[in-house]
Amino acid sequence: MPIHATDQGWILETSATGYALGLNQAGLLVHRYWGLRLPDLADYPAAASPAPWGFNSAAQLTPEEYPGYEDIKFIAPCLKVTFADGVRDVVLRFDSAELRETDAPELCIHLRDTVYPFRLTLHYRVHEAYDLVERWVTAANDGDMPVTIERIWSAQWHLPPGDSYRLTHLTGRHMDEMHLRREPLVQGVKVLESRRMTTSHHHNPWFAIDRAPSTSSGRAAEDAGDVWFGVLAWSGNWKLSAEVTDFGSTRVSIGINDWDFAWRLGGGETFSTPSSYAGYSAEGFGGASRRLHDFIRDSLLPHGHAIHKVLYNSWEATEFDVDERSQIALAELAAKMGGELFVMDDGWFHGRDDDTAGLGDWWPDERKFPNGLAPLIERVNALGMDFGLWIEPEMVNPNSELYRAHPDWVIHFPTRTRTEARNQLVLNFARPDVQDYIIDQIDRLLAEHNIVFVKWDMNRNVSEPGWPGAPGDPRELWVRYVQGLYRVWGALRERHPHVVWQSCSGGGGRADLGILRLADQIWVSDNTEPTARLAIQEGFSQIFPANTMEAWVTDMGADYLPLAFRFHVSMCGSLGVGGHLVRWSDAMRAEAAQWIALYKEIRHVVQLGDCYRLRSPQAHPFSAVQYVSKDRAEGVLFAFRTHLPPPTQLPALYLRGLDPNASYEIEELPGVRSGQAWMQAGLSVELNDFESAVRRIRRV
Ligand code: GLA
Repeated sequence: MPIHATDQGWILETSATGYALGLNQAGLLVHRYWGLRLPDLADYPAAASPAPWGFNSAAQLTPEEYPGYEDIKFIAPCLKVTFADGVRDVVLRFDSAELRETDAPELCIHLRDTVYPFRLTLHYRVHEAYDLVERWVTAANDGDMPVTIERIWSAQWHLPPGDSYRLTHLTGRHMDEMHLRREPLVQGVKVLESRRMTTSHHHNPWFAIDRAPSTSSGRAAEDAGDVWFGVLAWSGNWKLSAEVTDFGSTRVSIGINDWDFAWRLGGGETFSTPSSYAGYSAEGFGGASRRLHDFIRDSLLPHGHAIHKVLYNSWEATEFDVDERSQIALAELAAKMGGELFVMDDGWFHGRDDDTAGLGDWWPDERKFPNGLAPLIERVNALGMDFGLWIEPEMVNPNSELYRAHPDWVIHFPTRTRTEARNQLVLNFARPDVQDYIIDQIDRLLAEHNIVFVKWDMNRNVSEPGWPGAPGDPRELWVRYVQGLYRVWGALRERHPHVVWQSCSGGGGRADLGILRLADQIWVSDNTEPTARLAIQEGFSQIFPANTMEAWVTDMGADYLPLAFRFHVSMCGSLGVGGHLVRWSDAMRAEAAQWIALYKEIRHVVQLGDCYRLRSPQAHPFSAVQYVSKDRAEGVLFAFRTHLPPPTQLPALYLRGLDPNASYEIEELPGVRSGQAWMQAGLSVELNDFESAVRRIRRV
C-alpha cells in the first residue's frame, strides 16, 4: 500500500514522489511535503505549527491542506458556507481517517465542524505508476436545516516553501487555442477561470509550476528540472487561484468556479466535487506531460488503447450543403485514399440549410435525404468505411420544432431578452426532462442507423443563466448542467458502447479530463491551418495524449504549403482528412494515399507511444517532435520548418527516450548508432522553408 500512516500523519508515495500531510499542534490538517520520494518515512518533515505574529494569526501562517473560511485568515479558502442561522464561517477539525482500496489506494480524512452537523471528507487517491495524487472532497449535511455552499474547491496544492516559482499555463481563443504562457508568480493571487459553462478556448484547468533560477536546482526545461503540475477533471466553470503569500508560501487551489455559484445542501444530503489530479516530475515539462498522457490512456479514457481510424470529415468541404450525392462523391474518394471512417458533419438534420435553423430536430432532413440516412450509410459501408455523424445536442435554434414546442427548456431569465449566439440558445441540461428527451432522441438515431462515431459539438457559451422553477438554488445551474451533460453522454455511451465519441466545442472549447471519461477524442481547434496547428498541438500535448488529438488535413494552407507538410502536421495526432477531395487532383489524392498508408504503419507509435517535444514550434520556426513505442523498439521523428531568414544553419536534433545501449537506424540517415549516440551526439535534418520530414526510427 503506498499510503503510510505514522505518528506524524500520512505519507502518500508513488513510484518517484512523496506527498505528506499531518496534524499540527493546533490540530489543523497541514501540508508537510510534496516532491521527490524520500528514502525513509522519518525523512518527511513534521507538520508546522507557526506562532502568530502581529496582524498574522497562526492560521494565516499555516499551510493547511484544505482551509475553510474561519479565524483571522485571509489566504484563499477552499470552502465557504452559510449555515441556516446566518453563520458564515466553517470551523473544521479532524475527526477520523480511514484507508480504502478502491480502483486505487485511497486515504479519507473526515473533518467536522466544531458546532454544526456538517462534515467534510478529503479524499486522496494515489495513482502510483503515474506519480499522481487525486484529490476531491465530499460535504455532508448531517442536520435538518439546509446549508448553502458558496465555494467548494477540489484541492489546495502547496509548493515547497519558497516564493520564486513560475506558472506555465495555456491561453488562447476560438481558432487559436492552447498557447503556452510562462510567468513568474509574485505576491498576490493569479486567477485563471472559465465562466462560460464550458472548459473554454481561453484557458484550460491545467498548471505546471517550476522554480526560478535563483534556487539551487534552477529553472525546469522540457526534459529536466522540477515541475509540479495538475489539472481539474471538470467540463464546466472552473477556477484556478495561484497564491503567493508575504511569508514565502506558494499554493494553487483549483475547483468549480465560485462565481455565481451556490448549492443548497439539504439535511442528509452530500455534495462531491470533481477530482483534481496533480503530480511532480523531476524530468521537466516533458516528464509531466508523459505522466498525464499515460494516466489518461490507461485510467481515464473508455478505450484508451484502441487505435483510432483515419477519418474523413465533410465539414470544410461541403459545410451545410450536404446531401446523399455530395457525401457519396466525397466518401468514394476518401475510401480510395485509404480512409476508414466517413463522418458527415453539420447540415444533415431537419430544416438545417444554414446556422439559422434546425438545432434540436435530430432527424434527417427530408429534402436532403428523402430516403433517410440508410442509403448513404450503406454506400459508405460498402466502400469499406465506418460511418459517423455530427450532433450538437445541447443547443436549439429558435427556428426549430423543439423550441416551438418547449420554449421554456432553454436557459433564460423570463424578463430578459434571450441573447442568441450563432442564432442559437442553450438547452437547460440541468433539467432531468431535457436530459431524458435528448437521451431518447440520440438513442433513437443511434439505434436506427449503423453509426459508429459521433462528433458532439457545443457552439456557444451561456448568457442570462436563469433556471425558472429550479428545485434548489438556481445558481446550482452551472454545476447541474455539467452533471446533466455527463449523465446524458454516459447513458448514450452505455447504450451504444461500440460508438467512438468526439468532444468538440467550436474546436477546443471542451478539452479536459472530465470529458475524457466519456469522449475518446477531442477536436482540438477549428483552425486547421498547419503552421498554426503546430503551435496549437504543442499546447494540447502538454496535457493530452496524441490518440485524443484529432487532426485533419484540409484545404487551409494549400496555396503555400506542400501536401506533405500538411499531412505531417496531422500525422502527429489521430489523422483525419477534411479537404474538398473532389477538387483535389489525381496526383494529390495519390500522394495523400501514400501518407495515409505510412500513417497506418506508424500510428500505434504516435497514438500510444511516449511523446518527446524536441523543439517548440511556439518558440522556433524549426521544430520537432518525436514518438517512441513503449518497448523502445521503434519511433517516429517529425521535423518542420516554417520561415527562417537566410543564411540558416538548422540546429541539431537530439533524440529522446531510446534505449541508450541498443542500436538504432533512422530512415534516410546513414549508419547504425547506439541510442546513446542519437540522443547525445544528435542528428541533422535539412529542410528549406515550409518543408517537413518524417523519419522512422528502428531498433536493429
Ligand atoms: C463547429 C465545429 C466545426 C464544425 C461546425 C459545424 O464550429 O468546431 O468543426 O463541426 O461547428 O457547424
